[in-house]
Amino acid sequence: MKKVEDYIRTIPDFPEPGIMFRDVTSILQDAEGFRLAIDEMKKLIENVDCDVIAGAESRGFIFGAPLAYALGKPFVLIRKKGKLPCETIEKTYDLEYGTATIEMHKDAVKPGQKVVIVDDLIATGGTIEAAAQLVEELGGEVVKIIFLMELAGLNGREKLAKYDVESVVTYE
Ligand code: PRP
Ligand code: ADE
Repeated sequence: MKKVEDYIRTIPDFPEPGIMFRDVTSILQDAEGFRLAIDEMKKLIENVDCDVIAGAESRGFIFGAPLAYALGKPFVLIRKKGKLPCETIEKTYDLEYGTATIEMHKDAVKPGQKVVIVDDLIATGGTIEAAAQLVEELGGEVVKIIFLMELAGLNGREKLAKYDVESVVTYE
């Protein structure tokens, strides 16, 4: 039987020399690969007591939304700056290549809500550290963070040391 990692294609030197780019399109364009990825991520959170699933734009939406649907939870968006129409809070952070700013609607998470954060991949951990800080600024509690893929060599987990973090596939 194929495993999730069998569906992930790696592109060397994209988008910059030295980056090994783990490509989600090769999972998504295979119906069994996509289903397997969602099923494996679901296993990581199906027993977690949570009120809300939050996904980080854009690849986090692809995996977060079906998980929220499957688990019967609301899905809230952590978007790149300038996309959300209502009142927002924002955070700027460093990426494996470049910097970015993300935002959440101020009413996306209510004080005291338990939040699971979902993304496709952790590299430096900057995106999801910023995402977790936004959730906390809104009064939410980050009860778990899950990724489909983890690039362990970049030590992103160190930034998320205080959280419960799990990934389906780990690359050393
Ligand atoms: C990628 C990926 C994660 C983040 C991981 O998103 O989907 O969100 O980078 O990197 P980090 O752990 O170093 O923060 P990207 O910002 O490229 O946006 P995209 O999902 O829209 O492609
Ligand atoms: N986002 C940040 N680093 C990445 C990588 N190496 N592969 C795919 N997406 C990424």
